[in-house]
Amino acid sequence: MTDPFHIEDEEPQPVIANSVAAGAAGASYLAQLNEAQRDAVEALDGPTLVLAGAGTGKTRVLTTRLAHLLRFRQVRPYEVLAVTFTNKAAREMRERVAGLVGGPAEAIWLGTFHALGARMLRKHAELIGLQSNFTILDTDDQVRLLKQLLEASNIDSKRWPARVMMGVIQRWKDRGLTPDKVTAAEAGDLAGGRLVTLYEEYQERLRILNAADFGDLLLHCLTLFNQNEDVLKEYQQRFRYILVDEYQDTNVAQYLWLRLLAQGHRNIACVGDDDQSIYAWRGAEVGNILRFEEDFPGAKVVRLEQNYRSTAPILAAASALIAHNEGRLGKTLWTEGEGGDPIIVRGLWDGEEEARFISDHIEDLQRRGRDGTPIALQDMAILVRAGFQTREFEERFL
Ligand SMILES: Nc1ncnc2c1ncn2[C@@H]1O[C@H](COP(=O)(O)OP(=O)(O)O)[C@@H](O)[C@H]1O
Ligand SMILES: [Mg+2]
Repeated sequence: MTDPFHIEDEEPQPVIANSVAAGAAGASYLAQLNEAQRDAVEALDGPTLVLAGAGTGKTRVLTTRLAHLLRFRQVRPYEVLAVTFTNKAAREMRERVAGLVGGPAEAIWLGTFHALGARMLRKHAELIGLQSNFTILDTDDQVRLLKQLLEASNIDSKRWPARVMMGVIQRWKDRGLTPDKVTAAEAGDLAGGRLVTLYEEYQERLRILNAADFGDLLLHCLTLFNQNEDVLKEYQQRFRYILVDEYQDTNVAQYLWLRLLAQGHRNIACVGDDDQSIYAWRGAEVGNILRFEEDFPGAKVVRLEQNYRSTAPILAAASALIAHNEGRLGKTLWTEGEGGDPIIVRGLWDGEEEARFISDHIEDLQRRGRDGTPIALQDMAILVRAGFQTREFEERFL
C-alpha cells in the first residue's frame, strides 16, 4: 500500500472545490486533507490545539502545517521548532517535509525533546557548568553512579535499591524539580531521609564527569533559560513557529520548556489525544493538554474526528470504552469506511487457552475462510498488550 501523502513530484492532484489549494498553486498537498485537517493546517498564527483520536491524521496535519509554513509564510527552516516523540518520527517528518517543499529540511529544529534539549545545551554548556562535548549517560550508567553514592553513604541497598531511587530522582526531573526544589515532604524517608542530598551529590558528580542524564537535557535547559534571560530571548525570537506532536505525552519539564519558548511569538501548535496518554509512568501529565486553552488564551481548538485506520465496529467499541475516561475534552471518532467484521469478545481461563482458541480460529480462517474465501496467514495479525504474552502463541505455532 502506498501512502498518498508522499508527494515527491508536482503531479496535478485532484483539487477539492473551495479549498485554498485551488488558489494556492503548488499546494496540492492541501487537497489531500479533509476539511477539519485543512482548518488545522491553515490556522498558522496564534496558539492552536489539534485534539484528535488515533488514526485521524494528527501527524499528517503537523507535517503539512510545517510544509505550509515554509512554503507560504516565508518562514525560514531555522525559525521553526518541531518536536516529535521518537527519533524515527522525526526522520519521517523531515523526509516528508522535504518531499512537500521540494527543498532541504535540514535546518529545521526538528527532533525529540531530548535531541533538541541536547542541541541547545551543547551551545550554552558553559553557562550551566558543563563543556559542550558533555557525554549523555544511559540508564545503566546512571544507576551505577547512584549506587556508588548510596554505598559511600552506607545506605542499605536492599531496602533502598539504586534502580528504584534513580527512578524517584528521574520523576523529580520529569517534573522540573532540581534538588533545591524538592520539598522535605516529597522526599520523606527515602534512602533513610537522604535522597535529596544524594540527588544533589549525583548532580555534582555528573558535572565533574562532564556528563548529563536524559532528564538533565530538559532540566538544564530550564535552568539555563531561567538564569540567562538573553539566551531565552534569543530562542524566543528565533522560533517564530513551534509544532508539537503527541502533546498528551509531555511531562512537566517538557511542558515548561515549550511554554517558555512559545512566549515570544505565541505561534504554537500542539496535536494530541486526551484519551491516548501512554506515558503516565514516566511523568506524562495529561493535564498539559487539558490546560492548553488556559495557558494560551484565545487558542484555536480543532477536533479531528474522522478516522482513517479502523472499521466502524472497531471505532464503536473503542469509543464505548473511552467514554468512561475521566478528564477528557471529548470527541467522537467516525469513519467513512463501510463494513468490517463485528468484534468478538471472549473471556478465557488463561494464556494457554487463549492461544489455543486463537490458533484454532486462525486455522479455520486459513482453511475454510470467510464466505468461502480462504484467508492467507500474511493477512492476519495477533496483537498483544505486552511482549511476554507472545510466548504462548509462539509455542502453539511451532
Ligand atoms: N485526509 C486523509 N485522507 C486519506 N488518508 C488520510 C487522511 N488523513 C490521514 N490519512 C491516513 O490515515 C493514517 C493515519 O494518519 P496519521 O497522521 O498517522 O494519524 P495520527 O497521527 O492521528 O495517528 C495514515 O495512513 C494517513 O496517511
Ligand atoms: Mg501520530
